Amino acid sequence: MTVIRTARLTLRPFVEGDIDAMVALLNDWEVSQWLAVPPYPYRRADARFYVDHVRTNHEAGAATEFAIAVTDGDAVAGSIGLKRTCGDAESAALGYWLGQPHWGHGYASEAVKAIVAYGFGELGLRRIEAETDPENERSAHVLTKMGFRPAGQLSAGEARSCSLPTRRGSLVVNVHELLRSEFNP
Ligand SMILES: CC(C)(COP(=O)(O)OP(=O)(O)OC[C@H]1O[C@@H](n2cnc3c(N)ncnc32)[C@H](O)[C@@H]1OP(=O)(O)O)[C@@H](O)C(=O)NCCC(=O)NCCS
Repeated sequence: MTVIRTARLTLRPFVEGDIDAMVALLNDWEVSQWLAVPPYPYRRADARFYVDHVRTNHEAGAATEFAIAVTDGDAVAGSIGLKRTCGDAESAALGYWLGQPHWGHGYASEAVKAIVAYGFGELGLRRIEAETDPENERSAHVLTKMGFRPAGQLSAGEARSCSLPTRRGSLVVNVHELLRSEFNP
């Protein structure tokens, strides 16, 4: 099992004990509307499926998906992951969310920096992209701070990490891109 530690966060596999918090944090339209994949409403069965999925991902080696836990207390605050891009072993799409009580503390910036370093380091990636709803200025700001550049728009149907439109129904996503040579750890 892979664990990544930052100053205040532990990126680790999900455990059964995270399920109640996941259900509470993802049954929040303020979080879910910006995402494409997690169901809304979000049920215990959805959380249990994802806990097992992430455990399997870690057991397969070279983990790519993590719970974001606040190290002080180990409370799960959200999730972050890198999904390999089809047809390009050196590219991956970054996705993440934090429960609303955990916003505004710099946790997303801390987690994104750590997983990007892990992706360009241990995973040997050359390029990481992220896709945001055009109105998700908060998430776009986190990416810009990390050095991601705007790389155009895709219709949600052709976007790599969002095979669906975001829950709020936007039909395009903004693409942000960062190359290993551009990353300033
Ligand atoms: C996007 C999200 C992960 C950000 O988490 P966070 O921990 O609050 O982020 P941080 O505190 O690290 O950074 C937020 C930054 O955005 C800025 N910000 C906040 N609201 C903003 C807004 N409306 N427009 C632009 N910037 C904004 C903050 O000032 C901060 O920047 P700073 O560090 O330069 O001051 C969180 O809001 C979330 O999970 N949202 C719902 C799901 C989601 O959008 N996931 C990403 C899908 S692409």
